[in-house]
Amino acid sequence: MSDKATLTFGDSSFELNVLIGTENEKALDVSQLRKNSGVITYDDGYGNTGSCESSVTFIDGDKGILRYRGYDIAELAEKANFLEVCLLLLNGELPTSAQLSNFQEKVSAFQNLPSEVLKAVESLPANIHPMASLATGLQALGGACSHLCTNDRQKDLENFDDAAALIIAALPALAAASHRKKVGESFKNPDKSHNYCTNFLSMMFAKEGDKPINSSLSKALDLIFLLHADHEQNCSTSTCRMIASGGANPFASLAGAVSALWGPLHGGANMAVINMLNDIHSSGDDGSGFIQSAKEGKSRLMGFGHRVYRNYDPRAKILKSACDQALEALGVSSPILDIARRLEEVALQDPYFIDRKLYPNVDFYSGIILQALGFPTNTFTVLFAIGRAPGWLAHWKEIAQTGKRIHRPRQIYQGSTLRYYEPLANR
Ligand code: CMC
Repeated sequence: MSDKATLTFGDSSFELNVLIGTENEKALDVSQLRKNSGVITYDDGYGNTGSCESSVTFIDGDKGILRYRGYDIAELAEKANFLEVCLLLLNGELPTSAQLSNFQEKVSAFQNLPSEVLKAVESLPANIHPMASLATGLQALGGACSHLCTNDRQKDLENFDDAAALIIAALPALAAASHRKKVGESFKNPDKSHNYCTNFLSMMFAKEGDKPINSSLSKALDLIFLLHADHEQNCSTSTCRMIASGGANPFASLAGAVSALWGPLHGGANMAVINMLNDIHSSGDDGSGFIQSAKEGKSRLMGFGHRVYRNYDPRAKILKSACDQALEALGVSSPILDIARRLEEVALQDPYFIDRKLYPNVDFYSGIILQALGFPTNTFTVLFAIGRAPGWLAHWKEIAQTGKRIHRPRQIYQGSTLRYYEPLANR
């Protein structure tokens, strides 16, 4: 196949380079098109636009494939843990056992929030959403560790390993501080003898005299984090890269990514799924009424559909069986899990969903596990953010190492043409 394409526009033809990725994905390189022809390309919502070359994650949405740095998600979910995957994403290779223990020690050492950051999070308005608190906490953390947060790309790169470990360590503590404040409990200090997820569960929920946390619960949480760790150029990651392209430090870039993740069509969908399942449950519907209203465009089947996957999201497949295991370990039954299963069964046989290639995505089953673990619904997206942090950081690093230009899309202007100022008295 030729490595050039020809675009004809008006009386002129323009030669475009063809970029070919390592998985044989092809793209027409239009970076010189405006310079050569005076026109730009138009792609509302970027569904057909490659914004960068990246070596972090590969997705084939038609085949339902997801790989971090070349490793299949199902194999990582079975054999690795979250902190190991953090290093894989951040450095490009699986760590040796010495590298992993060094990272674990670093994360453990960084778990205590600087006191001014803890105070900042605790002094936020009582009704603040946990995602807003997380974004604020990240900016405060950058302020407290200003040597890691300089906006001097070279310095921020030199300090990147420490900044990444600090952010990964601090996010659970920030989430727990915000939660404890909301429920009127004082902050519980991290316990360095616990692993990452046990420590987080304990900081969130443990009370004096509680039994130790069941290891199968922290394993379920570890799996959720691992499955969310990266997903190439989604809304929040593209936001992170966009902010980083302007030269901003990792703390600011991730605070922006957290805000982008918050919306119900992105990370907020895991909350929306639970709200939807609870509504269906309390209305006495077995799910068929809701499916009908989704088909009529009156509602959306949350946790279904994906911009990239036109097949079963491989993460949803893993979470579906993890859901059964977690509920069994907790010894609880979940009526909303039965509704979720029924919705899936009905939707996957319905021409509306089949024709549009709408399958369960990562959010369809994750919320049920999080609810069973005791997380309040409005903290679910925070959990997504904790899991996604290593991915955002890996993309920040990629931009800092290879990004040459600030990201700056163009537009087709559809507003008023030139008009003249009318004095206030005449309007
Ligand atoms: N329920 C009912 N209909 C749907 C759904 C849904 N969940 N998703 C898409 N459709 C329909 C949509 O109405 C449209 O129909 P038509 O062609 O008749 O107009 C068609 O399918 C294509 O949908 P789209 O909105 O153009 O697709 P998109 O690629 O822009 O949106 C999506 C992707 C994930 C935003 C969307 O599927 C959705 O809103 N899903 C529910 C929210 C959700 O679960 N989001 C989490 C995504 S995975 C985690 C993450 O990446 O953050």
